[in-house]
Amino acid sequence: MACGGVGHASVWNGCPSSRTARTLEAMDRTSWQDFDQLRGAAIGALRGTVLELGAGSGANFEELAPGVRWIGLEPSVSARRELRRNATGHGHTEPPLAAGGENIPLEDGSVDAVFSTYVLCSVDDVDRVLREVRRVLKPGGTALFIDHVAAPPQTWRRRLQDLASPITRRVSGCRWNRDVTAAVEASGLETVRLDRRDVASGRLTLAVPCTIHEVVNP
Ligand SMILES: C[S@@+](CC[C@H](N)C(=O)[O-])C[C@H]1O[C@@H](n2cnc3c(N)ncnc32)[C@H](O)[C@@H]1O
Repeated sequence: MACGGVGHASVWNGCPSSRTARTLEAMDRTSWQDFDQLRGAAIGALRGTVLELGAGSGANFEELAPGVRWIGLEPSVSARRELRRNATGHGHTEPPLAAGGENIPLEDGSVDAVFSTYVLCSVDDVDRVLREVRRVLKPGGTALFIDHVAAPPQTWRRRLQDLASPITRRVSGCRWNRDVTAAVEASGLETVRLDRRDVASGRLTLAVPCTIHEVVNP
């Protein structure tokens, strides 16, 4: 897409106006089913020792390639209990790490890949999480962040997100208006793919802006 290519300072930088941004938003409408397929394909391409941040109860096990050594990290006690059960059921025997992404209890350069799905909206300090990702990744290692993200500035969806975020943050820990792309680009990780979609379950339903960031540790 015209304004979302790799190497831009932000997905919407270079767009001359929010009107242009709205046009692009409409162009990139994708169903949740198709977006899930993109998620599965991206996760399935990871190899070696793979760290999953904020793994929840384990929604991504089906997507992992055979032979991957999975390390899960999940700060919630209740989710971690379920995660451990599901992990064992999928042949991953290492107990998930009880930690937040801001303090990953792993050695420097110890994993081949890191990924998360719908987690960067929930973390308290996204810059610190990305620094930790960079620290634990081997040089040349890949990280994949799949998220719902802030709509372009000055759009009605962004206004709605800005209004709702203080509430959703308190209720579920999730911010609707986080500019994940800006955080990733400031992290020093090198973007190799940025895929931005407006994901919706139907033509008339509200589209949720989502991104897939694939980055490497330089
Ligand atoms: C919306 S859920 C997504 C769960 C799972 N990744 C999925 O796609 O189903 C957000 C997850 O992030 C976790 N989380 C919250 N704060 C975190 C942090 N600082 N570091 C890592 N994970 C965190 C939550 O406990 C929760 O499991």
